[in-house]
Amino acid sequence: MGRKFLVALGGAMLTLSMAACSGGGAGSGDDKSSAKPGDLTIGVSMPTQTSERWIADGNAVKSKLEGKGYKVDLQYAGDDIPTQSQQVDQMITQGADVLIIAAIDGTALSSQLQAAASAKIPVISYDRLIRGSKDVDFYVSFDNYKVGVAQGTALLVGLGLLNKDGSKGTAKGPLNVELFAGSLDDNNTQFFFNGAMDTLKPFVDDGTLVVKSKQTTPEQVATLRWQQETAQKRMENLLTSSYNDGSKVDGVLSPYDGISRGIITALQNAGYGTGAKKLPVVTGQDAEIASIKLINDGVQSSTVFKDTRLLADQAVNAAEAFLQKKEPEANDTKTYNNGVKVVPSYLLPIVTVYKDDIKTALIDSGYWTAEEVAAGQAKK
Ligand code: GAL
Repeated sequence: MGRKFLVALGGAMLTLSMAACSGGGAGSGDDKSSAKPGDLTIGVSMPTQTSERWIADGNAVKSKLEGKGYKVDLQYAGDDIPTQSQQVDQMITQGADVLIIAAIDGTALSSQLQAAASAKIPVISYDRLIRGSKDVDFYVSFDNYKVGVAQGTALLVGLGLLNKDGSKGTAKGPLNVELFAGSLDDNNTQFFFNGAMDTLKPFVDDGTLVVKSKQTTPEQVATLRWQQETAQKRMENLLTSSYNDGSKVDGVLSPYDGISRGIITALQNAGYGTGAKKLPVVTGQDAEIASIKLINDGVQSSTVFKDTRLLADQAVNAAEAFLQKKEPEANDTKTYNNGVKVVPSYLLPIVTVYKDDIKTALIDSGYWTAEEVAAGQAKK
């Protein structure tokens, strides 16, 4: 064997063993508390860039971690499950010390999580709970049931059945509403839908609200991957199948701003919003800038604001705690059972935003500027 080859082989083995070391960095059970932030990498896996909220989340987590000196490997998976699995696999082999993951499909990452656990890499589930795995160490999110209650309540307020203070409004039924839910593979979807339906149920039961299409089960009203186009299509179909007799839709329960915009486009294409045919009350979530403009213009009725800056803070706190071999601070240790275990969670509060609240909730807090609201676009 030539000397050159031996040297090359030696080099390759050294690289391999270094990779194994850093791959198992946390893995070797090393105490990270003494490591310098600059030697530690946090893998951040986000679902998609088609929704601006996940871009804001990714940027916020990255800049906060970098501000503390950590290295960050931020990846977006284009809403494709195999891509996300592959990206997480790669973060593990490249030696991530902590993983922060917002899953596309809450049940699809079990083998990655197992690999992370064998390498002793702590996993933080970001906003969407990863299900069916014991290897989820912490969960940061909002109170997702309350998001649903807020959406149901905002629909009732928009329709005039309730006042903002919770007292009875002056409107009278029957009013026609249609229901939309998110992607069924996202653990949050059932929390949003249950919170909303628990709030709307008494009004449906006494006939004040009528779901003319009769589509009321999560399976019937779900929107795969939360896609705007899918929601638009379903709204178009609902209008043709249930409202071609001259009747009108008065309200639509929507769980997310992208879905709301799809619903609104379908309604506008069918003549709503012109003349006497008023646009229905449409709810939302995430305070996406395109929807904030629509709310400001009186087109969309409300959204639920979840401050992604605060969520990013909690994710960063949890990551640091793990690196220092501490348990992150949880404020809920009961609600989020992922099918295998209850995952300790930090849940943040939410804010309902109607037109009147845009200034105080979003502009004064620095989430969006007045110019961005007017333009309906985030400044780069
Ligand atoms: C959910 C999240 C919502 C919304 C939705 C679509 O998991 O909790 O805030 O962003 O995904 O992206």
